[in-house]
Amino acid sequence: MENVTVFTHPLIQHKISLLRKKDTGTNEFRKLVEEIAMLEGFEALSDLPLEDVEVDTPIETCMTPMIAGRKMAIVPILRAGLGMVPGILALVPSAKVGHIGMYRNEETHEPMEYYCKLPHPIEERTIVVCDPMLATGGSAVDAICRIKEYGGKNIKFMCIIAAPEGLKRLAAAHPDVQIYVGHLDRELNKDAYICPGLGDAGDRIFGTK
Ligand code: PRP
Ligand code: URA
Repeated sequence: MENVTVFTHPLIQHKISLLRKKDTGTNEFRKLVEEIAMLEGFEALSDLPLEDVEVDTPIETCMTPMIAGRKMAIVPILRAGLGMVPGILALVPSAKVGHIGMYRNEETHEPMEYYCKLPHPIEERTIVVCDPMLATGGSAVDAICRIKEYGGKNIKFMCIIAAPEGLKRLAAAHPDVQIYVGHLDRELNKDAYICPGLGDAGDRIFGTK
């Protein structure tokens, strides 16, 4: 799958292992999600365009590269994607933030959209869609379809843990989208939870259930 990057960086792997522990509490869990998102974002945004601008240093005036324009959008898939936003915003504080609300039907595991608000104009922006969990892939596939309907073109997807099933489905449905995965896990169980996974990411970030 040409459009997929699976991270091997030891810091990302270490932090994901801490996330998996069932006794990692909400506070630490949130911090880890934020840190992993920042580490992944550092690599995922390595192709942001630069432009030379004039800067006065204490020594002289020089032309020096800065990120071109202020045209990025971060789009978390609610709820769990919200946990990744601060980490990416730490890298690009000027990014706009859109939201897509999706929840999985517990029986069919099909995603249901309940909210969508994207920054305008979306077609000119580099869009980073984030969600810690890529399980069946249904939520990510549908969220990206929706963003494309609104005109989104240059789209990246960042997750922390993926199941092989969901990764394959997303890469096939959106071959134009660059996908970044913190760790590729073994499989889905009969309830479409990722194994070994980390449980329900939304509940662990927000302390629900
Ligand atoms: C989780 C997760 C993803 C989705 C992944 O959200 O955050 O959005 O499941 O599953 P999929 O790849 O099979 O679609 P959930 O539906 O539990 O909603 P929540 O974040 O509001 O808890
Ligand atoms: N959503 C989660 O939060 N965890 C999983 O393992 C699968 C979907």
